[in-house]
Amino acid sequence: MATEQQTQTQDVDSDGAGRNGDSLTVTDNRTGKAYQLPITDGTVKAMDLRQIKVSEDDFGLMAYDPAFTNTASCRSAITFIDGEAGVLQHRGIPIEQLCEQSTYLEVAYLLIFGELPTRPQLERWTFDVTHHTFVHEDIKKFLTGFRYDAHPMGMLLASVGALSTFYPDAKHTDDPEERYMAAVRLIAKMPTLAAFSYRHNMGLPYVYPDNALDYSENFLSMLFKMESTFKPDPRLAKALDVLFILHADHEQNCSTNAVRAVGSSDVDPYSAVAAGVAALYGPLHGGANEAVLRMLRRIESIDNIPDFLERVKDREEKLMGFGHRVYKNYDPRARIIRSHVDEVLAATGDNPLLDIAEELEKRALDDEFFTSRKLYPNVDFYSGLIYEALRIPTEMFTVIFAIPRTSGWVAQWLEMKDDSEQKIARPRQIYTGERDKDYVLIDKREGPEKIVGPPARRPKFPRRGA
Ligand code: ACO
Repeated sequence: MATEQQTQTQDVDSDGAGRNGDSLTVTDNRTGKAYQLPITDGTVKAMDLRQIKVSEDDFGLMAYDPAFTNTASCRSAITFIDGEAGVLQHRGIPIEQLCEQSTYLEVAYLLIFGELPTRPQLERWTFDVTHHTFVHEDIKKFLTGFRYDAHPMGMLLASVGALSTFYPDAKHTDDPEERYMAAVRLIAKMPTLAAFSYRHNMGLPYVYPDNALDYSENFLSMLFKMESTFKPDPRLAKALDVLFILHADHEQNCSTNAVRAVGSSDVDPYSAVAAGVAALYGPLHGGANEAVLRMLRRIESIDNIPDFLERVKDREEKLMGFGHRVYKNYDPRARIIRSHVDEVLAATGDNPLLDIAEELEKRALDDEFFTSRKLYPNVDFYSGLIYEALRIPTEMFTVIFAIPRTSGWVAQWLEMKDDSEQKIARPRQIYTGERDKDYVLIDKREGPEKIVGPPARRPKFPRRGA
């Protein structure tokens, strides 16, 4: 909070500038009063606006920022992004170096504990995660209760939330041991839940984790193992590990904000992370890579690209995998993914959709509509092509995003818990409805005599067996 001396009404110089250096002078034209608000870390505190009133009983001025486009909701030392320059760093280390030299589990440790682990620390961390990959057998039972065509992200969402019922002690969110156990269990079990959801969709028996394999090899094994001899291709496991690193954290995005907001109620971390999974499910966030593949399939051939781009410009379509709230330059993650596409395809065989994607990118980056809006490929533009090459079905893409993002969610949740400035997240609103209306008895209300049309629940997009 700003001190009284800093925020009180102050005289301003004739040129309107405040007398203090790092401050903002605001004149309320309704009253003619000037206020000097401290500027800290390039921000003014929204609460400092509250003193700006037209009368004693006025509530005071609020900031209005739907979708938080210009509001910092926390202090964080986890991930740095310079959207204009296309820079991404975790705990200060550039993403390029992490992808080149690290592994996903090491990056998860870095995000959560703030430093790269020493060898013994990494060994212990890896041991702990590897030995908590199994899930309670009862989880298998309720997964089998889902419809055969249930979206695996819906299954993941439900099963992550259900983990809180298996580990009720996680509600002791101030207990360091419980926090550590929740971090280990979430990172360890997420691939297992994801793979079980996939196997349910495919009607295949669940494959248990294999502690002899590393994190990404084990995930591939749980997805695809049919015979005891299955051995994941190391090139594909490496590419998947890089994708896991690239998706581990991305500061205050929609799902991380959801984890922090829900976690701020002091609910257990499994429930908070389930909120993150739900947010990630949406096509404007984690669901975008699924949408990119569907878009590329719809475009069908390079010849159809000009028509498609015209439809985007006419706002009939969105160019999925392009644009980002923060990056107004090439997303550095998209560049790294692009560099791995060729080696993955070398192992798995060509994909004609890559030609369409490359040509689409080229033409969009040549087009004033996209360049003037600073729309560049984001992380999702090429990741779907790698997932497809790995024989992962489109519906699993978002699920695979959720696996590594769990380490970011956990790191952000832990940081929030230790932040003395944080409280339960509770935004304000501008009420736009009516007030002080009288209740009207049902027979006196105006409206249609009869309702025409079908009752609710008539499926607009019928499914097989619906
Ligand atoms: N295709 C066409 N036009 C676009 C696109 C796009 N993909 N993205 C933004 N625009 C246009 C908007 O229509 C708007 O134009 P206008 O100023 O003429 O109205 C302008 O660019 C600015 O866009 P906003 O919607 O204001 O940008 P915002 O920051 O709110 O949205 C978002 C960012 C949601 C990512 C958006 O770019 C989008 O929907 N992209 C496609 C979905 C996607 O790829 N999402 C993945 C993001 S990465 C991630 O979540 C991991």
